[in-house]
Amino acid sequence: MCTADAIEKSASQLIAGHLVAFPTETVYGLGADASNPEAVRRIYEVKGRPVDHPLIVHISSMHLLDMWATDIPEYAIKLARGFWPGPMTLVLKRTSEAKDFITGGQDSVALRVPNNPIALSLLRSFESKGGKGVAAPSANRFGQVSPTSADDVISELSSFLMDGDLILGGGKCDVGIESTIVDCSNAAPLILRPGAITKEMLEASVSLSEPESTLSDIRVSGILEKHYAPRAKVTLDQIPQFGQGFIALASFPTPHGVIRIASPRDMVEFAQILYQSLRKADLLELQEVVVLQPVGEGIAVGVRDRLLKASKGR
Ligand code: TXA
Ligand code: MG
Repeated sequence: MCTADAIEKSASQLIAGHLVAFPTETVYGLGADASNPEAVRRIYEVKGRPVDHPLIVHISSMHLLDMWATDIPEYAIKLARGFWPGPMTLVLKRTSEAKDFITGGQDSVALRVPNNPIALSLLRSFESKGGKGVAAPSANRFGQVSPTSADDVISELSSFLMDGDLILGGGKCDVGIESTIVDCSNAAPLILRPGAITKEMLEASVSLSEPESTLSDIRVSGILEKHYAPRAKVTLDQIPQFGQGFIALASFPTPHGVIRIASPRDMVEFAQILYQSLRKADLLELQEVVVLQPVGEGIAVGVRDRLLKASKGR
């Protein structure tokens, strides 16, 4: 676990232009000073991610929104008040602080206040040293499964990090899948990526715009096919065969000769264990893992979204 000293040191390393991986309630992030082009360039290098993919800027409080975003609609303020700190990212019209190297040249910037004590302490300490925001994609190599523990980050990235970069440990992530992304750059909010802040939760405070046409001009890397994928082939909603891995709700029994990888009790736990279970399939060197997807609304939508992409393979 990590001490106040470790957090303080990590904040200084961010200010000095180094990378710091840190826990959030969703997945671990690979952080860099969002105002430092060289530090942000290293995120892309370490992840092996195409440079035109925009990053989420993390801040400790919605009071810092104005630094990064302008023309903020009333409904976005309402969402920020209702769900921050939390697993929700808002895409807003950018200020001049959000440079092209953060936004992928788009006129909008993605912002999030994470709900994890280590992440929040790190952000506050960074801000107290003059930092404005921490850019952090999930701390995995591009296209692979997001890390939900410090050990996952170490196995994904340690050979790509340099002296001065740090990994802050903070146990397992509570949510397990990435934040809900809401585009707030138009007249009505639009969900770009489903997550733990569900459509139903958002609709309780704002009217959502229907998904369709607007998606085309926005680049969300999670929308690319072949994402969140382990080495094992992921097959959805089939009867598993002898020697295959199997992930399903606890209520589904394991057929004979099938390797049960996880038995979550409900859809919330399904999200929590999803990525670690896909990693486990690789650790066991399985060729194929069958997943019975959770049905219904709520976070199950986010789980199915990630599984669909995982099933497209690497
Ligand atoms: O839960 C999360 O969101 C985690 C933790 C670390 O905060 N972060 C995360 O980052 O998932 P990443 O880079 O793996 O995914 C960020 C997504 C990408 O799909 C990116 O395209 C989208 O956010 N994004 C960033 N800026 C955007 C913008 N201006 N407009 C639309 N999408 C944007
Ligand atoms: Mg990612």
